[in-house]
Amino acid sequence: MSSEEVAQHYNNVKQTGIDDRKESRIFHMRNMNNWIKSQLINEAVQILNSSGIYRPRVLDIACGKGGDLRKWDIAKVKNVVMADVADVSIDQAKDRYEKMKDYRHNLFDAQFIVSDCTKSDLSELIEDKTPFDLTSCQFALHYSFVDEQSARQFLKNAVGSLKPGGVFVGTLPDADRIVWAVRNSENGEFANEVCKIRYENVDELAEGKTPLFGAKFHFSLDSQVNCPEFLAYFPLLQHLLEEFDMELLFVRNFADYVERWKIAGKNLLEKMKGLETYPSDRLSTNGENEYTEAKQFLEKLDESQQKTFGTISKSEWEAICMYLVFAFRKKGSPPESEESDSKKPKN
Ligand SMILES: C[S@@+](CC[C@H](N)C(=O)[O-])C[C@H]1O[C@@H](n2cnc3c(N)ncnc32)[C@H](O)[C@@H]1O
Repeated sequence: MSSEEVAQHYNNVKQTGIDDRKESRIFHMRNMNNWIKSQLINEAVQILNSSGIYRPRVLDIACGKGGDLRKWDIAKVKNVVMADVADVSIDQAKDRYEKMKDYRHNLFDAQFIVSDCTKSDLSELIEDKTPFDLTSCQFALHYSFVDEQSARQFLKNAVGSLKPGGVFVGTLPDADRIVWAVRNSENGEFANEVCKIRYENVDELAEGKTPLFGAKFHFSLDSQVNCPEFLAYFPLLQHLLEEFDMELLFVRNFADYVERWKIAGKNLLEKMKGLETYPSDRLSTNGENEYTEAKQFLEKLDESQQKTFGTISKSEWEAICMYLVFAFRKKGSPPESEESDSKKPKN
């Protein structure tokens, strides 16, 4: 699977409108994933703020169609470099940014770059050579684990230009969870109402000999076949990042991360429609056992308690639990008075 094929795949993914998205079986899962990214970006910005870095300079590596542009605006960043191998996605991201500029005065500056980050040296393509405060890589890093050289080049691009004290955050499939799910399912394929996961080389899997790089698996969501992906074992990722002077701040499965932020991030989760109302005659599915826990919870409520609450179908939750969030920080203290602001903004 070459980067050209990955680019071709993502270039062909159609941009969906709000109405299509609402109709999707994984509407709430997508929204919850988006909420998790928002919480992670918030947390990264808080970490930077606590070391005196405000209005950070950001690298959004493998940014796709620019789905996080609004999050960067909310995070009050100074400027963002958006890079992706898929040229059509970068055009769409640029378009979104230009439209935002129409109604948002003083929007952050941005540079958009089409680049295969497993092969090229991104730093040569970036106009402003000021080091970054924050790198974000959402749902993409594992593609680079096709082989060791690609993973190393991708990580160099991700964190090589971070300043000391700079933060690297991301989301990616949880390799251990995926291997466990596939091993414990019939015919070597994990499947539920919304996703299917298959590890390509069944012999490798059966013998417990999945390689460190090039461990290919297929993940399809909501019947859309994705391009092949690669397992990225977190301890290996951590080891590689330590070679770039990055220290681990935290790693959590999505389920733990939701648990961590579900109170503080409740209003945003509601606003982003990460949960559906239960009970309702318009649930996402009529599938048996998809709301067993919600049903039991409802039965335990006494007369005085509110009879509706937020939930998510079992299949969507299982798919959500296949992912991890992480945060690393570059060792050393941030230099004083840098290009990004070290003064707290007024609002
Ligand atoms: C699942 S999408 C995520 C997009 C975006 N980060 C988000 O969260 O919406 C994965 C992205 O990784 C990009 N990608 C994969 N391999 C890449 C590479 N070698 N260099 C740059 N981008 C790559 C794809 O083109 C795609 O846009």
